Amino acid sequence: MARRPSVARNIAALRNSVAGYRKKGVTVALVPTMGALHDGHLSLVRAARKKAKRVVVSIFVNPAQFAPTEDFSTYPRTWSADIAALAALGVDLVWAPSAAVMYPEGFSTRLEPGGPAKVGLEDRFRPHFFGGVTTVVSKLFIQVAPDIAVFGQKDYQQLMVVTRMARDLDLPLKVVGIPTVREKDGLAMSSRNVYLSPPERATAPTLYRTLKECATNLRSGQPLERALSGARATIEQAGFAIDYVEARHAQSLAPIASLDEGPVRLLVAARLGRTRLIDNIAV
Ligand code: PAJ
Repeated sequence: MARRPSVARNIAALRNSVAGYRKKGVTVALVPTMGALHDGHLSLVRAARKKAKRVVVSIFVNPAQFAPTEDFSTYPRTWSADIAALAALGVDLVWAPSAAVMYPEGFSTRLEPGGPAKVGLEDRFRPHFFGGVTTVVSKLFIQVAPDIAVFGQKDYQQLMVVTRMARDLDLPLKVVGIPTVREKDGLAMSSRNVYLSPPERATAPTLYRTLKECATNLRSGQPLERALSGARATIEQAGFAIDYVEARHAQSLAPIASLDEGPVRLLVAARLGRTRLIDNIAV
């Protein structure tokens, strides 16, 4: 049987474990998660395994990145299955602080990211989100002090925001982005997919299919606005309520007028019933 990872629940225990790795002079990778692990998360862990000798996975459902109207209290929590999956991959340490350890009484500091965090994508619909993400991720980076931190391209804007933040704060680590893992029908894996009813689940792959069609149309010369309005119509007809369907510069996430201003990333966020789905692809 695979060896269970150690679990640290306070900063002293975490620092003690990481200091042990450092004493041996080995590299450390961190994979930040909110648990409810699926194959997407596990592909980040596998990538981390390849890139560093020791792998730390954090599991913390971060209240600071949920708005009061969002799903913090109902967010799926699957601790035993998560630990078993991480054990099978040979993870060394799980960092699982409580909210009181992460945000003790009197906690009063919050980052306010700009640049890719202020481009009118996720930030427009979840204005509190990247402040909460960068606050917790900067804390995780300082707590664990890894050489490498692994994130998914699934949350593409988050990846750009965290990369920028690490650079801006001179944090001595490398942020690595890993391609999106999908179900067989193309739906991007997400902890929130469990919210979808069977008919919604059948509709959900439309997002990825439409992004791919849109990318093909763009590559074959269709003007940007025409390709995007076609994609929006398809997604709406399938029954989604669209938050955005956009083509942006792949690094800055700034708006672009044509493919020549690329590299280009297509990004979508849309709601199906009560579930909000996001996806993105390169053009
Ligand atoms: P969470 O949604 O649990 O995702 C943890 C990491 O897994 C993120 O880097 C995310 O991009 C990646 N991921 C999720 N689904 C994926 C998929 N289908 N393929 C590849 N990677 C995937 O993102 C967060 O948590 C939080 O915002 C966090 C960064 C932990 C800060 O609280």
